[in-house]
Amino acid sequence: MNKINLPQASKLTSPNPVTLVCTKKADGTTNLATVSWWTYLSFNPGMIGFAMMKSSYSGEMTRENKKVILTIPGEALAKEVMGCGTATGRTTDKVTKLGIELQHISDSDIQIPVHTRAAILCTLKEFVEVGDHYLYICNVDEVYGNEAEIALFAWNGYAEIRPAK
Ligand SMILES: Cc1cc2nc3c(=O)[nH]c(=O)nc-3n(C[C@H](O)[C@H](O)[C@H](O)COP(=O)(O)O)c2cc1C
Repeated sequence: MNKINLPQASKLTSPNPVTLVCTKKADGTTNLATVSWWTYLSFNPGMIGFAMMKSSYSGEMTRENKKVILTIPGEALAKEVMGCGTATGRTTDKVTKLGIELQHISDSDIQIPVHTRAAILCTLKEFVEVGDHYLYICNVDEVYGNEAEIALFAWNGYAEIRPAK
């Protein structure tokens, strides 16, 4: 075994999960941000967690509105997932710029991408400082799925977005 650092380890653990975190902006429209650092925390009750840079707009909107949807993007969104991970909703309307088609979903006023394999609707329970990120710990309100969509993953660490097969 060779001594390595965490970014190098993230390449060895590829493919890594990838989500589009959907939050509601002040004007009511949806912001999308790419997040790999998420995990199931509890099935009963349903809970998930995700970590975002302290400066992220999605984090700010999650703290403000307490509502957030984690979505697993479908294959058609590979390019857009990279785009949502390289611009901030603070200054860019990513949905319009990237031409991402959204759908309404029951039980939420946050829209999500049409090409979504799974959507986890959450309410923020608490957030904890973890180094340069905040860890958002959320209660799961509802979950929706669409097996017809093929899930995307992050490869080579977080450098490429494509399905697992
Ligand atoms: C594949 C990939 C995975 C990413 N994973 C995370 C993550 O887990 N946490 C995070 O804070 N940022 C992550 N990012 C970077 C954010 O998506 C990026 O900082 C984005 O601009 C945040 O947008 P926002 O300010 O609209 O929330 C990732 C980017 C890519 C391309």
